[in-house]
Amino acid sequence: MIQLIYASAAAEGLGQDDIGQILEASRRNNRTAGLTGVLLNLDQSFLQVLEGEAEAVHAIFTRIRRDPRHARVTPYPEIPIQKRSFGDWSMGYDALGPDAEGADSVFKLTRNALDEKLTHEESVMAKTVIDTFFKVNRVER
Ligand SMILES: Cc1cc2nc3c(=O)[nH]c(=O)nc-3n(C[C@H](O)[C@H](O)[C@H](O)COP(=O)(O)O)c2cc1C
Repeated sequence: MIQLIYASAAAEGLGQDDIGQILEASRRNNRTAGLTGVLLNLDQSFLQVLEGEAEAVHAIFTRIRRDPRHARVTPYPEIPIQKRSFGDWSMGYDALGPDAEGADSVFKLTRNALDEKLTHEESVMAKTVIDTFFKVNRVER
């Protein structure tokens, strides 16, 4: 299995209805494809984790990349995994403001990816940053 993490910039004017539709399609499709993960809505950006068999992750990511509801889709290097971090969630979701507790690290990760300022070290740390964030935060499934 692999874990694929990417950052993207939400399309202008994207609203709660759009998010609801994205989550509905995600939960339906991901369950069928054996994918799990989480979507963070960070102000005007997204940070998403997708995990499952490589083929299934790549297939869905190809579709997500083309979605006009976001832009500048920037993947981190994918990581081989033995065990899922979000095994119970077809797609967890949380919306965070910059002042949310513990959110600094995920905001920074996302901002640097979108600004193409990601260091190698930060890329490698992405999984750890996200896993740590979710250990201390409860998120809707
Ligand atoms: C930020 C973002 C995250 C998304 N995540 C997923 C996802 O995890 N799974 C999924 O199937 N579609 C996801 N989508 C939606 C896809 O781009 C696409 O609209 C959807 O898979 C189409 O499904 P449908 O043909 O069943 O309606 C996402 C879209 C955006 C903008």
